[in-house]
Amino acid sequence: MSKTILITGGAGFIGSHLVRLMVNKYPDYKVVNLDKLTYAGNLANLTDVKNNANYEFVKGDIVDTDFINDLFKQYQFDAVIHLAAESHVDRSIESPMDFIMTNIVGTANLLNAAKFNWNNNFDGKLFYHVSTDEVYGSLGETGMFLETTSYDPRSPYSSSKASSDHLVRAYFHTYGLPVVISNCSNNYGSHQFPEKLIPLFINNIKNNKPLPVYGKGENIRDWLWVNDHARAIDLIFHKAKLGETYNIGGHNEWTNIDLIKVLCKVMDKKLGRENGESEKLITYVTDRAGHDMRYAIDATKLKDELGWEPSLQFEEGIEKTIDWYLANEEWMNNITSGDYQKYYDSQYSNR
Ligand code: NAD
Ligand code: DAU
Repeated sequence: MSKTILITGGAGFIGSHLVRLMVNKYPDYKVVNLDKLTYAGNLANLTDVKNNANYEFVKGDIVDTDFINDLFKQYQFDAVIHLAAESHVDRSIESPMDFIMTNIVGTANLLNAAKFNWNNNFDGKLFYHVSTDEVYGSLGETGMFLETTSYDPRSPYSSSKASSDHLVRAYFHTYGLPVVISNCSNNYGSHQFPEKLIPLFINNIKNNKPLPVYGKGENIRDWLWVNDHARAIDLIFHKAKLGETYNIGGHNEWTNIDLIKVLCKVMDKKLGRENGESEKLITYVTDRAGHDMRYAIDATKLKDELGWEPSLQFEEGIEKTIDWYLANEEWMNNITSGDYQKYYDSQYSNR
């Protein structure tokens, strides 16, 4: 194997797409997927690669210092791509400490383990930290986030991600640890846990359940197809200059309500419903506390330096996404019924 790579959070939404890409595209890399299998981690996301010779899954918690140090000793990783995180803003409002532990303490543990085990011999090593555009705060009607935009996180989730970004940069400047960071906008696609807007609403439309729109539905997000995020990570991992940050985004801004209306329209067609039927499910509910108004990414640096651009138009991407959730009813039912969580609890009860 030419490289052994640790991918954290590989059983989650974006992580599973990245693991699949790396395992298939680089048969000479060994990919070790470390995941705690929280409610958001699901090995059913990776059934197609689970038996590949260059893939291994390890269940574990990045907050557990001894476990992480032992793992680094055992595998002698050449590189880390760190995605493991608590990722849902609403949950961060309910339970901020989970976010502080995993996103901040967990990242610090990984940085320490890399620094210690690489023993100041950083040749050919890389610590790649995957982060979010939410660290930059909330935009008004104009402007876009650049890599140089000051941090202004406003939720426990985005603050914990911002803290982890700062720690990663501190290890670069203080210890010379070879790092790179990317900050991406909202992802959509297959295998996303149905607490996030798009899979939640697809599932609710299908089951004729209310669509809870926060506030007036006027908040704006910049949506990127998850496979294009994975492509960007691959490129940055192989080509980026050490210490650099890259913004990744779709140039694809939608108000929530317009996006939801597209979902309703496409679903009406797919489910053979009359046009306008699913829109009747829209229900305006109390706004999210501290709800960021608008995110928009300027990804010019990534385009100019590394030649990355999104490969898919939103209309095509959203249709593919809806088709996937409709075709994978069992995946969705296992999550919503809690069966998969029970399975993992019993499967790993003696760890
Ligand atoms: P996700 O919630 O779907 O997956 C997170 C994964 O991390 C899960 O598999 C979970 O089991 C694992 N995990 C959580 N805590 C852990 C711990 N303590 N130890 C080990 N594993 C743990 O998240 P996602 O949407 O795939 O996001 C992945 C990364 O990308 C996160 O760092 C997130 O901040 C970032 N990001 C997400 C988006 C997005 O739109 N979803 C956009 C930009 C950046
Ligand atoms: O911008 C990147 C971020 O995108 C990532 O860092 C996060 O991990 C990811 O969860 C996502 O955060 P958001 O808060 O933007 O995503 P979410 O899907 O939770 O919400 C999208 C928008 O839809 C947001 O404005 C809130 C709104 N919303 C969400 C839900 C779940 C609703 O109106 N109703 C809902 O039920």
